[in-house]
Amino acid sequence: MTLGVASTNNVSPLALDERARIHHAVARSAIFRDLPPPAIDDIASRVTMRRALGGQAVLSQDEAGDALYLLMAGRVKIVMFGDSGGEVTLAVLRPGDIFGEMSLFDGHARSANVVALEPATALALARQPLLEHLRAYPQTAFHLLSELSRRLRRADETIAEMALCDVEDRLIRRLVQLAKEDGGELPEGLIIRRRPKQQDLANMVGSCRETISRTFNQLVRKGLIVPRGRSLVVTRRLISTLESPAKAA
Ligand code: CMP
Repeated sequence: MTLGVASTNNVSPLALDERARIHHAVARSAIFRDLPPPAIDDIASRVTMRRALGGQAVLSQDEAGDALYLLMAGRVKIVMFGDSGGEVTLAVLRPGDIFGEMSLFDGHARSANVVALEPATALALARQPLLEHLRAYPQTAFHLLSELSRRLRRADETIAEMALCDVEDRLIRRLVQLAKEDGGELPEGLIIRRRPKQQDLANMVGSCRETISRTFNQLVRKGLIVPRGRSLVVTRRLISTLESPAKAA
């Protein structure tokens, strides 16, 4: 990240508070929380805190990779840009997710761009401290491998969707996924609190804004999704269409 604030050696009360927040973030992250406490302590002692503004490039494709990151606050998108100005969003990461591990492990350049969607804070673990940690706590490697497998699975699903599903199917799947990740339950369905822009949805499902706009409005007319202020309700009826083969009429 270009806006870096690292304060691991400072012993002021503020820094102590920051160390506690860092420890908390490592200990509650899905990837590290099942590690034994000494391994968590070790990771927390090796990271530095970095911050980025909303819209700022956190990592750029093709630059060398020297650290992996654990997102502590804010969301980032993993994105690739085409030569003609188009872009495809590969994933949106949330607090507790890691990124930057691919180039660290294979020694190649960063595989994609990472852009902050809002002010974001991440914990950076540089290559050498990571290697020292892995020597002392090899079980952490299984947690990282398991995360890589989960991402490969998701990438396989996306490839299959691109090949086998039409735009409406892909949009429905993505909206349901976003709603499940957001986790807000309503009697009538799940709520996406920050409704993504139609261009962002197009970038996520590999389509263009015009097609997404048309498809989105059809779903609204059928009552399958309900815009509500800045949020969007994904109805149970829509969610159930993914569980039964027949599409919503
Ligand atoms: P790295 O290649 O070092 O830098 C870009 C990062 O984006 C990459 O590591 C991964 O952490 C992340 N990334 C790349 N592709 C995906 C994907 N399909 N899903 C989630 N994260 C990804």
